[in-house]
Amino acid sequence: MFKKLDILDEKDKHLRTKSVDSELPLSKDEKKLIQRIIDHLTYSQIEEYEKKYDLRPGMGLAFPQIGINKRIIVIVHEYDDGKFDNYVFVNPKIVSSSEEMIAVEAGEGCLSVNREVEGHVPRHARVTVEGYDEDGNKIRVRAREDLSIAFQHEIDHLDGILFYDRINKNKPFYTEDEMRLI
Ligand code: NI
Repeated sequence: MFKKLDILDEKDKHLRTKSVDSELPLSKDEKKLIQRIIDHLTYSQIEEYEKKYDLRPGMGLAFPQIGINKRIIVIVHEYDDGKFDNYVFVNPKIVSSSEEMIAVEAGEGCLSVNREVEGHVPRHARVTVEGYDEDGNKIRVRAREDLSIAFQHEIDHLDGILFYDRINKNKPFYTEDEMRLI
């Protein structure tokens, strides 16, 4: 039985708190919670279920967004039509990042931000992320484009940063000459 997650709003203090490293391996309950997050994010990206369960589409979620200030992120990436890859990273760290910056042309969204925020969020086009899986094995991924943005967005949540903090207030929009927009 699918049960929708209760996701906290940006006004909740968990969203502005720096999260602490998680102990490994994760507990049974934490693993169950991760599976619920994966289900929620996957369903939210499939139109039929999105409608059926009234979900907001989203590809990533960080533990602070469900009220737990531990450094755990989950990303469900649609790499091909209807095909998804799951990324669960515990205590993730960006170990290298491209000089090239990109931004989502339409702006970023967040399941904790229930309003439109206009502006481009500059992000590294490519990042390498290291961390641990649920059982404590070291893992590493090289992410590019939208997946790279998702990792940066979710890791920001672990430091109490929301996407709009990174929008330049004096110059919220870039042109294609200044930054590659995806
Ligand atoms: Ni978010």
